[in-house]
Amino acid sequence: MRMLVTGGAGFIGANFVHQTLDRLPGVELTVLDALTYAGDRASLAAVEDRITFVHGSVTDAALVDDLVSRSDTVVHFAAESHNDNSVAQPWPFVETNIVGTYHLLTSVRRHDVRLHHISTDEVFGDLELDDPARFTEHTAYNPSSPYSSTKAGADLLVRAWVRSYGVRATISNCSNNYGPFHHVEKFIPRQITNIIDGVRPKIYGTGRNVRDWIHVDDHNSAVLAILERGRIGETYLIGAECEVDNLTVVAELLELLDRPRDWFDLVSDRPGHDLRYAIDPGKLRAELDWKPSYTSFRDGLAQTVDWYRANEAWWRPKKEKTERRYAELGR
Ligand code: NAD
Ligand code: DAU
Repeated sequence: MRMLVTGGAGFIGANFVHQTLDRLPGVELTVLDALTYAGDRASLAAVEDRITFVHGSVTDAALVDDLVSRSDTVVHFAAESHNDNSVAQPWPFVETNIVGTYHLLTSVRRHDVRLHHISTDEVFGDLELDDPARFTEHTAYNPSSPYSSTKAGADLLVRAWVRSYGVRATISNCSNNYGPFHHVEKFIPRQITNIIDGVRPKIYGTGRNVRDWIHVDDHNSAVLAILERGRIGETYLIGAECEVDNLTVVAELLELLDRPRDWFDLVSDRPGHDLRYAIDPGKLRAELDWKPSYTSFRDGLAQTVDWYRANEAWWRPKKEKTERRYAELGR
């Protein structure tokens, strides 16, 4: 199989490349990545000689078309992914997430190539803390941030291309990932690296916001299951049924890093901050017989903390610039 992975130098994409090469040894894998601040070729260093790396953008229609024409399958991770950045500067999100997805759709249609589009649970908006409901494949779209609205726009383009042009595509909407190679702007790696540096974790607002955490390897094993056994035209929600509020995540990290559980600061809130996400992964489990391999969040966090302790050379160059940006936002 000739597989094109967009955004393969980012957090989830790089972990996907590693897992795919392990599980599908015959695969010919090409990564297309623009190497924005969020992309890092070092995340692919261990497999550099087993892939073709193309430095370029999904917004470059001619490049995308050439690469798609030489592929059997495209897995589309490339995106601007951080909510705080999208509130401050939305245009790159519109350009990459919507226009980039449009170019991929045009090319997979032209060359009749299978597409799997990676998306997020944030397209559904948020839930109240005491709402027993969880997101399903039937939940209406109601995104809150510039980031999530551009992901929703991209999902709707994919659905329209399936219906109007018969494009062979699937979509997955996953909850919050954690694990190795996660950029230090994001919540869990930001707090781990702060604590390592002797800086108190910074929690937005009240800290009662809930995220539904999944280890990145479990997200990616679900994507492989969809590629292998998913039905064309379908959407699958991916989650590991692990709802935890931000205060609890930080308390666990502090304990793992030998600090008191109350050694943190509450800082100003993110504008429009979604309260709670929760995924019902019933369809994925029943139809594709998928289940997560990380059943203990605490163990997954401990492994992640160990990874950041052992890989300071990977995150250190990103840390100062990231914290400077947060200081400008007062967070
Ligand atoms: P990331 O920001 O870590 O990585 C994004 C990658 O895309 C980077 O390597 C970046 O260089 C690349 N990229 C950005 N613009 C590009 C462009 N124009 N052309 C080519 N490459 C470009 O993001 P991530 O957390 O790995 O997220 C990957 C995908 O998964 C995204 O589509 C995101 O919406 C989705 N997702 C993320 C999560 C999560 O918790 N992180 C959960 C659900 C879904
Ligand atoms: O739900 C899936 C989404 O999860 C993905 O689509 C996004 O790409 C990914 O970035 C993530 O979005 P969040 O906004 O939920 O993730 P983030 O790591 O930015 O924040 C997680 C929670 O932690 C959120 O409630 C905000 C809070 N937070 C974040 C940071 C960076 C803090 O309290 N302090 C912080 O310093």
